[in-house]
Amino acid sequence: MPLKKILCIGAGYVGGPTMAVIAANCPDYDVTVVDINKARIAAWNSKSLPVYEPGLQEIVEKQRGENLHFSTDVVRGIEESDIIFVCVNTPTKTFGLGAGKAADLQYCEKTARMIKEHATKDMIVVEKSTVPVRTSKIINEILSHGDSPHKFEVISNPEFLAEGTAIKDLQNPDRILIGGRPCASGEAAVAEVSAIYESWVAKENIITTDAWSSELSKLTANAFLAQRVSSINSIAAVCESTGADVIKISEAIGADPRIGAKFLKAGPGFGGSCFKKDILNLVYLCETFGLPEVAEYWGQVIKMNDYTQNRAVSRILKSMFNTVAGKRIAVLGFAFKADTGDTRESPAIQIVESLAEERAEIVISDPQALENAQQDLKEIENVSFTDDPYEAVLGAHAIVIVTDWQEYKELDYGKIYSSMEKPAQLFDLRNILSSDELYEIGFNVHLVGKKSKVHKGS
Ligand code: UDX
Ligand code: ADP
Repeated sequence: MPLKKILCIGAGYVGGPTMAVIAANCPDYDVTVVDINKARIAAWNSKSLPVYEPGLQEIVEKQRGENLHFSTDVVRGIEESDIIFVCVNTPTKTFGLGAGKAADLQYCEKTARMIKEHATKDMIVVEKSTVPVRTSKIINEILSHGDSPHKFEVISNPEFLAEGTAIKDLQNPDRILIGGRPCASGEAAVAEVSAIYESWVAKENIITTDAWSSELSKLTANAFLAQRVSSINSIAAVCESTGADVIKISEAIGADPRIGAKFLKAGPGFGGSCFKKDILNLVYLCETFGLPEVAEYWGQVIKMNDYTQNRAVSRILKSMFNTVAGKRIAVLGFAFKADTGDTRESPAIQIVESLAEERAEIVISDPQALENAQQDLKEIENVSFTDDPYEAVLGAHAIVIVTDWQEYKELDYGKIYSSMEKPAQLFDLRNILSSDELYEIGFNVHLVGKKSKVHKGS
């Protein structure tokens, strides 16, 4: 029997890793990932993948050319496939109605129109990109409008993977969520998509529902996660003023199983392509449906995040005698979290921009994100880049750790201290280091949600 053909449109952070894992677990399916971005596809076909994820390279190298292919031929992909996963980007709208809040669905819509034009048979279209509630209905309307001889069933199957742990999350998902129309053909399509996952995911971990609940579940999951981060960051502000310790508070409240220990790390504020976008999306949805109180409630999570980022900069300034002009500041980490090269919405962007406005001389180091950082900061003067953290800190007045990379826990801080200007300030915005040890070395140490440890006379 010929292999069933899966097509994925969009070879980004979601499409690429997801399809690699499907190909690895489903020898009965032939998987092709297409993208209009030629450079991205060339990179997927090379040794240097466009997305950094631990474990991804190995899987891609094993499956590529077997049942995993990367191509720019979108039309041919559509013509030949049985099931299409849509993994295109859905950024926040920057223009027109809903600008700054609503999702920009132009890429989704263009994709749907292409599918309609080039499909050669009845087909299941799986919406994987995070989308506003009811997008599946819109896609369905585009696909079924007019005179197409083919029938399309649109399924919502949101992705819950987190960057940096994408392969682990895809191999062992907590749950797979599949939503479809509550009718015979909708249920059949849900079962067909479920069958793909059942190759490696236990059936009891596959939740099926209607498409709208599935879409709203994804927004809700991200809103709840982001809310936890904003909640603990709000408490960090209280700790810094009162002398309480937010790390201990996280430990104490996390021991309550009703609260749970995860996602309680205070830091520089959340980043990443999803949290802010999805909450804005939820806020817009609530406003559109006449629910201003609900919109305001969730909007506050973003306000607290902005406040957290601003607070980090104010603390740096205050601790450095209210001026950083001409002072060298080493920023360690630019990715929005460890184990990824992704810098979308990274708190580092706002922090570096604010320090640059104060005319600091900023040196940025990151093991994976320097290319993206250079792109993000191309308009900013007084910024330089190095992949060697020891070079970054040479002659610096301050170090600001923005990303929780493991290697920053293992640096020789004694050596670093002796290469810096004094007083040497260390702002650990991720609380990954021991303030006592660093203070002993000689640093003035500032952890998030903890009183600063500052040497007398500095
Ligand atoms: C998130 C969701 O976790 C994932 O399920 C969804 O599919 C996409 O969005 P991701 O953006 O990759 O994943 O990263 P995540 O690990 O959730 O972290 C988001 C941000 O919150 C990061 O900037 C991270 O550093 C920050 N964070 C997370 C904290 O500041 N404290 C925490 O305790 C946890
Ligand atoms: P995500 O994090 O959701 O995966 P990315 O921006 O990393 O988002 O990836 C989305 C990809 O979708 C991009 O590589 C983009 O070029 C691709 N894309 C957008 N529109 C289309 C389209 N109409 N056809 C093919 N690929 C598309």
